Amino acid sequence: MCGITGYIGYRDAYPIVVKGLQRLEYRGYDSAGIMMFDGETICVSKTKGKVSELEKITDLNEQAKKGNIGIGHTRWATHGVPNDVNSHPHNSMSGDLVIVHNGIIENYATLKKELISRGYSFKSDTDTEVLINLIEEVKKQEGCKLGKAVQLALTQVVGAYAIAVFDKSKPNEIIVAKLGSPIAIGIGKDNAEFFVASDASPFIEYTKDAIYLEDEEMAIIKLNKGIKVRKIHDDSLVDTKIQELQLSLEQIEKGGYDHFMLKEIHEQPKAIIDTYRGRMIPNEGIIRMAGVDDNIEKFLNADRIIIVACGTSWHAGLVAEYLFEDLARIPVEVEYASEFRYRNPIITEKDIVIAISQSGETADTLAAVKLAKSKGAFVFGICNVVGSSIARETHAGAYTHAGPEIGVASTKAFTTQITLLSLIALKLGKEKGTISKSAFHSYLQTLQLIPNKVEELLKIDEQIKYIASVYKDATNCLYLGRGFNFPVALEGALKLKEISYIHAEGYPAAEMKHGPIALIDENMPIFVIATNKGHYDKVVSNIQEIKSRSGKIIAVVTEGDVIVKEIADHVIEIPETEEAFTPLLTTVPFQLLSYHIAVMLDKNVDQPRNLAKSVTVE
Ligand code: AGP
Repeated sequence: MCGITGYIGYRDAYPIVVKGLQRLEYRGYDSAGIMMFDGETICVSKTKGKVSELEKITDLNEQAKKGNIGIGHTRWATHGVPNDVNSHPHNSMSGDLVIVHNGIIENYATLKKELISRGYSFKSDTDTEVLINLIEEVKKQEGCKLGKAVQLALTQVVGAYAIAVFDKSKPNEIIVAKLGSPIAIGIGKDNAEFFVASDASPFIEYTKDAIYLEDEEMAIIKLNKGIKVRKIHDDSLVDTKIQELQLSLEQIEKGGYDHFMLKEIHEQPKAIIDTYRGRMIPNEGIIRMAGVDDNIEKFLNADRIIIVACGTSWHAGLVAEYLFEDLARIPVEVEYASEFRYRNPIITEKDIVIAISQSGETADTLAAVKLAKSKGAFVFGICNVVGSSIARETHAGAYTHAGPEIGVASTKAFTTQITLLSLIALKLGKEKGTISKSAFHSYLQTLQLIPNKVEELLKIDEQIKYIASVYKDATNCLYLGRGFNFPVALEGALKLKEISYIHAEGYPAAEMKHGPIALIDENMPIFVIATNKGHYDKVVSNIQEIKSRSGKIIAVVTEGDVIVKEIADHVIEIPETEEAFTPLLTTVPFQLLSYHIAVMLDKNVDQPRNLAKSVTVE
């Protein structure tokens, strides 16, 4: 996920674009760059690091700030490590076309090969430089204008994009296009100026009139003339509605949500798709993942898998234990990274160590990775932040592609980690023959439906808010689950603790009777996961045990449940799915519940006390 912004009009473009980039830094800050055009000269400045680093460079170069046209970019690296050369904007080989891009061009390697055979050379490792040269090549071959060239080039592209393109020979125009990644266009008075950005925050103080492009749409923005929006594939003109922006600046920076945490909870359907996009092809029965494919023999011959992680990532590791053992029949141990490294663990060359970390910077997990490597294990990293320390330190790995997670309480990191781990477990299960071909196909079809089911689940927000209002003053809570959903109970308790400061514990439901049951009285809310697969009858018995001791029961059940409904004080229904994938659904109500309780208690949801997003101390 990256931020793009641009300006064309009568004002100095530089301060508008740079301020816009700062507002979009939540979308990534691996590198920053800007192109300015003063009527004669294209000037591109770019650097690794934040927008503040970019400003240090442009402060030294008068030309870098000159002109009424500019496009800028703040990068969250996907293809190519974050360095100066891979930073955006990217020029075409002639230097006359310039692009900024948010997204991933999945077939860039094929397109690049073709362009190289036509004499193109590349400075960066990015998919974006391939796209701008493809546009240049199409423009040359077809003898067409920039708009047409962009359109034709995009029909050859597989992947996701929001782009802004400038052509020196068309100095009154900016072309933008969208598929999968957002883009907004701000419209100035009398078409005398236009703004382009990933969200409306960069231009909120200049205009309230905006157009949001839909997927597969492109806009040709012409100074003093106006905007034409077309469908990319069939060339039809789109009758676009101008929207009046209602939101305050601060809200817009959070995409209209009150907090980053809520925004990130709501981003989960898309984040899950982004995790499996290009990796899972259900109709063809394929899962491909370079990091696993390239090391498949190691995975298939492993004596065991050891998972190291901290916090929420450790909970995702616990879910993976169930996934790998059930689907691929590989023994798994899940370790707190902080404990693992301090107890002289027995690791052999036939072990695979999987390190899970959203940030890729957690000091304990990084140290565990180094220890495992020193003992000869093959170490595989699952990170969200591209180019992070753990991603670099591991032998191979896969990114979750969840986009930046800013709220300290992890939400979409958890569900995307589980998605990725499910893909690996399914792939290994298929390769080892521990799941049948038909079961494998069926799992893929089911996993593909999860984002829609999460979307459905997010609609019960009002019900969760009501439950939050009933239990917000509790001082202690219990979270219970069994099997695949035991880790979800732990995660639910962690979410409540870290942002609302209410003491909560997660337990395997059957363990309750070995101690925690003593805590239960009429003041104790107990959140129980009782989905219809797995150990349903046993969990129902556990719920009865709570009921007999007057505990308050809030049960997460499968749609259509009748038995638990009779006993529980509140039920939250989740859509039906495979047992292995239930954690992707059961965790969502707990995220929303913690969020609403924290808001009702007036806590700092996104930056809870004593915590940091990435824990880089031991
Ligand atoms: C969870 O909400 C916390 N932010 C925390 O437990 C976190 O998961 C842990 O610090 C590990 O972080 P990582 O995934 O970036 O390594």
